[in-house]
Amino acid sequence: MLFAISSIFFIYFWGKIAIKQDQASLKKKAAYAALDYIKIGHIIGLGSGSTVNHFIEALLSIKHKIEGIVAASLQTEKQLKQQGIPVLDLNTVDKLSLYIDGADEVNSELQLIKGEGGALTREKIIAAASQYFICIADESKFVNLLGQGSLPIEVIPMARSYIAREIIKLGGFPIYRDNFITDNGNVILDTQGWDFTDPIRLERLLNNIPGIV
Ligand code: A5P
Repeated sequence: MLFAISSIFFIYFWGKIAIKQDQASLKKKAAYAALDYIKIGHIIGLGSGSTVNHFIEALLSIKHKIEGIVAASLQTEKQLKQQGIPVLDLNTVDKLSLYIDGADEVNSELQLIKGEGGALTREKIIAAASQYFICIADESKFVNLLGQGSLPIEVIPMARSYIAREIIKLGGFPIYRDNFITDNGNVILDTQGWDFTDPIRLERLLNNIPGIV
């Protein structure tokens, strides 16, 4: 899913100052850096993925400060509950100060591709509902042009074949993600071959296909 939304993004390219370190430690540094943005009483939105896992670990030191977390995936929710961190339903929350999440690709416009972990729809909803998006990404995620990997698209199961045909008509190449059901009961098409010179146009085009979530 493309994240070309109007939130403010802060990206941490820790790799630039820690070139020799492996990716896991760069992810950890990015995750720990996000702690600086958390204030007493904040309700935070939280995505999913390995960088987010580092953030959950980091959060333990300050969990008493926050009111709770709105989780973007059942996996994240489970991990938070295991750590004794309160999990809140988005419908019960008036104001989300921050959304914290990783990304699969980031360009210089701070536009993102997300969804490798399959939690893209809830991630995008919570990001949109939040005042700021703190994107925790190591430098391996930076690309000059989006689309170096796949663009994951969540679709309603009964619309899968129709949407695959529409994607092909638009110049994309869909691959059905085998044995994967999203937290919303849908399926994922991992797509490639797009012209990414105008990501916002592409996002609008895809959002207009009925059945794409
Ligand atoms: C989840 O659906 C994705 O959008 C993740 O945010 C993304 O895959 C980042 O994952 P890592 O932190 O594991 O690289």
